[in-house]
Amino acid sequence: MITTQEITQIREQVRVWHAKGETVAFVPTMGNLHLGHITLIKEAVKRADHVIASIFVNPMQFGQNEDLDAYPRTLAADQQALTDAGAELLFTPTPETIYPKGMEQQTFIEVPEIGDELCGASRPGHFRGVATIVCKLFNIVQPDVALFGKKDFQQLLVIKTMVEDLSMPIEIIGVETIREESGLAMSSRNGYLSQSQKGQAAKLKQVMDVMSQEIQSGQAIVDAIAEANAELIEAGFKPDYLEVRSSTDLSSAQAEQKALVIVAAAYMGTTRLIDNLCFER
Ligand code: PAF
Repeated sequence: MITTQEITQIREQVRVWHAKGETVAFVPTMGNLHLGHITLIKEAVKRADHVIASIFVNPMQFGQNEDLDAYPRTLAADQQALTDAGAELLFTPTPETIYPKGMEQQTFIEVPEIGDELCGASRPGHFRGVATIVCKLFNIVQPDVALFGKKDFQQLLVIKTMVEDLSMPIEIIGVETIREESGLAMSSRNGYLSQSQKGQAAKLKQVMDVMSQEIQSGQAIVDAIAEANAELIEAGFKPDYLEVRSSTDLSSAQAEQKALVIVAAAYMGTTRLIDNLCFER
């Protein structure tokens, strides 16, 4: 696998592949790769002739008091894992390459409504940062297909909406969440948890499982949410939000709605974890 910080090298390689009629799949990441990312790469290998990954810890999507500086940087291990999984090219731009005029002077992308609530409300500016960097990376890489984990369910919908609204000729694929044996969704931020917090954090998935079963058995959504919040607090979480929404567009769940998703964000200590569970009522 070739690693480059140069936009021109990525463009030249993709131009050569596309000229031969070959397809390119793209997996953008912030590094510190785990099995969830590797599953994206392996899925990408099945869907295109060539796979490009990127590692860029995007300052624009971090709030002022968030973990930008502490975010784990593990380039050598990531390069090995990407090579083993079948990626051919890795783009590791510097912040100066991505934001040469600084972030304040940068044109940005904002996806209305879907980007404003849930994580968008708790982390103002987060989805502006995500949409802007993903748009820039798409313009650099020009992939035919791009893959994202469903663990970041709202992020996936924000990106799908951006691609549709801006008529980008890119197929967006959502890939199932990969979980630890305990049920805890894999995330780079799990590395901030102590062993005992990791055990407690597994409760989030269990609580969502029970919620979905109870709603499917006819329990009112508001009651299911109240019970689940109490259980999360009991398990040591500080819930940020726990809601049931339409799984097609994250709008409020209407009485007749069948395709639903539980979306959750909760703090375990100082670590903010997110997860979700789609189900049919
Ligand atoms: O999901 C992530 O790792 C990031 O939000 C992404 C999509 C790579 C954009 O920085």
